[in-house]
Amino acid sequence: MRLISEPCPLTITRGEGSHIWDVDNNQYLDFAMGMGPHILGHSPKAVISAVRQALDEGQLFAGQNLYEVELAELFVSLLPWIEQIRIGLSGTEMNLLAVRIARAHTGKQKIIRFAGHYHGWLDPLFVNPSSADSADENYLTAGQSKAAVNDIILAQWNDIDSLRKLVNHENDIAAMIMEPIMCNTGCIEPSAGYLESVKNLCKSHGIILIIDEVITGFRLGIEGAQGRYKIHGDISVYAKAIGAGFPIAILGSSISLLREVGTGKINHSGTYNAGVSSTVAALATLTELKRTDPFEKIQSTGLNLMGQLSELKTRDGKQLNADGTGHLFQLRFGTKTKPTNLAEYRENSDGETLKKFISVWQKLGVRTTSRGMCFLSAAHTQTDIDFAAEKAAAAISEI
Ligand SMILES: Cc1ncc(COP(=O)(O)O)c(C=O)c1O
Repeated sequence: MRLISEPCPLTITRGEGSHIWDVDNNQYLDFAMGMGPHILGHSPKAVISAVRQALDEGQLFAGQNLYEVELAELFVSLLPWIEQIRIGLSGTEMNLLAVRIARAHTGKQKIIRFAGHYHGWLDPLFVNPSSADSADENYLTAGQSKAAVNDIILAQWNDIDSLRKLVNHENDIAAMIMEPIMCNTGCIEPSAGYLESVKNLCKSHGIILIIDEVITGFRLGIEGAQGRYKIHGDISVYAKAIGAGFPIAILGSSISLLREVGTGKINHSGTYNAGVSSTVAALATLTELKRTDPFEKIQSTGLNLMGQLSELKTRDGKQLNADGTGHLFQLRFGTKTKPTNLAEYRENSDGETLKKFISVWQKLGVRTTSRGMCFLSAAHTQTDIDFAAEKAAAAISEI
């Protein structure tokens, strides 16, 4: 059973292009898009036919296959700051591998992560130290590992002065991990110059910078957020949009940082890593993205919808906003002033009204995630956008 969905979880039987159908054959225009992977829309033909063709060749060999080599070659050709890759199944585990590599290389232990960012659900990163100054994020899950908590330093994002203080105060920091856009809370972009300052800070203190592009990678453009902001981390992690819904994640870095993963001194294991169907899916997805370059169209379609949604208000005057880059955005009820950090987002975001809106929008045939994050895709059309805007106007007048 899915955790949250209003008024009840949908049971979905089919997805094609920008639409999904539930078990009662209701059709929905989809902006949840599998939580991000469907950059080409649901069931993209180029990917599905490549996977279908490969299915007869075998699934898993506990040995190298040619698709894996082709994928690695394509990947490093698309992202010039990446020399080598590791293939895994999920963003969570590739971020954990990134942290392990950072510890192995620096001989240091602690990891800085940022409040409001998400890097996967497992202990080493999904914990919150009780000393965190954000009182309402006291814990993320029951059953937190105390050992893991001790290894995490929680920082406030988009605030270089407080980060500088943290780094100057602690010598044992192996890595800093961040989403380049705070997609998991508010879809907030970095302030001008922030990422450069973070990178310089990491460099001067011997800290490995891990850029988690699980959401932004191959969504904001072929080069993802690092291309948009022209800044590169030491280790980059990709998942979601690279596989069109098949389970695959990629960690990319320099040969020097990955050499000891290759020798086995730094362990990276996993029975299903680089399985044929996932590898072929990623190869076909990236080839299709390179061939069609849909990113500008995705962005302008999204910006168009954001503009239309941002004109709507509830009957009692609550303003709807859409914050993001167009390729993805977060719905928010609050003043038009865009939040620039977690505290501002929390102060200026009415979660209860958003929940009601999402529920009625879905009843009217438009689905987004339970948090109101909308993912655009190459399959969304102007007709879709106008439908979504019309139903949003109808939904907001009902709440
Ligand atoms: C930025 C980010 N990193 C990591 C993850 C974890 O990825 P996965 O769900 O593939 O384990 C997510 C998942 O939503 C994410 O948004």
